[in-house]
Amino acid sequence: MKNRIERLCEITHNKEVSSSYFRIGLKWQTPRIAPGQFVMLRVTDSLDPLLRRPFGIYNVIDAAGKASLRGTGIELLYKVVGRGTRILSLKKPGECVDVLGPLGNGWPLPRLLSSGKNRWGRHDKIIMTGGGMGIAPLYLLAKKIKTGVVLFGGKGRAEAGLTKAFKGHKIRIATEDGSVGKKGFVTELLKEELGPDSAVCACGPVGMLKAVAALADDAGVDCYVSLESSMACGIGACLGCAVKSGAHGAAANRDYRMVCSDGPVFLSRDIDWEAL
Ligand SMILES: Cc1cc2nc3c(=O)[nH]c(=O)nc-3n(C[C@H](O)[C@H](O)[C@H](O)COP(=O)(O)OP(=O)(O)OC[C@H]3O[C@@H](n4cnc5c(N)ncnc54)[C@H](O)[C@@H]3O)c2cc1C
Ligand code: FES
Repeated sequence: MKNRIERLCEITHNKEVSSSYFRIGLKWQTPRIAPGQFVMLRVTDSLDPLLRRPFGIYNVIDAAGKASLRGTGIELLYKVVGRGTRILSLKKPGECVDVLGPLGNGWPLPRLLSSGKNRWGRHDKIIMTGGGMGIAPLYLLAKKIKTGVVLFGGKGRAEAGLTKAFKGHKIRIATEDGSVGKKGFVTELLKEELGPDSAVCACGPVGMLKAVAALADDAGVDCYVSLESSMACGIGACLGCAVKSGAHGAAANRDYRMVCSDGPVFLSRDIDWEAL
């Protein structure tokens, strides 16, 4: 893909938006990005850490760092969890990072946006379901969908704050500690929202995705999940991110699929959930 290249991007901002959660802006002339695609960042010039780190593309922004459909940059939302993200969090505006992307295949927008009865079924109610940092790649999708339902599940108030940016959607929150929204898991909210005209787009920890996929399957509706995996190359070359494909669906005749190049977004019935 012509648009997929390695480039040095200047940092426009790198702000802590909530404890351990950062938003980083990267200059990128006329990015053409599909919601659900990701980039791989090299966080140092040295060999430690050796591997690039993958991040979903959160937003497309203009030179002033504001959301824009025809932007000159991208924004990532990330959580500091280890060495790579800690190094990233210390970077200052004006510094540059090496970025590979955009990578992978995102959510199938034409299918999702063709509401009403069509050859893919009914997708009148799109339910975007995010768990923890899984909310990040859903933001760009939510901007394209315009009116849908956003369900968020997180540990508590700090994570729930990540939904504040979502506008124009019905937003429902579940937290494990009950500090915001319903006490419990996001799947409880999904049970209440699912109907025969729904399609589900989900991103989050694998346990959550597994439960979401099972609920969507029981309801007989399409469910598109964005998977996470350890990644080395990001372009389908090292086979390090292979997942077993399910017994049904488009991937049935292929044993393994690469999260980086076949995904990260998959139709849930194309995945062998028992093998994850
Ligand atoms: C396609 C894709 C998109 C992603 N998008 C985002 C995003 O938008 N925002 C974001 O904050 N993170 C995202 N991640 C996860 C992110 O890549 C990792 O958090 C990051 O690589 C951790 O690097 P580190 O060096 O700080 O941590 P490491 O030192 O590598 O690991 C520290 C701890 O974090 C755990 N960890 C590392 N990677 C992951 C992972 N992928 N999932 C769960 N636990 C992990 C490790 O097991 C370890 O316990 C994405 C991952 C993938 C594959
Ligand atoms: S990360 Fe190398 S094949 Fe996916």
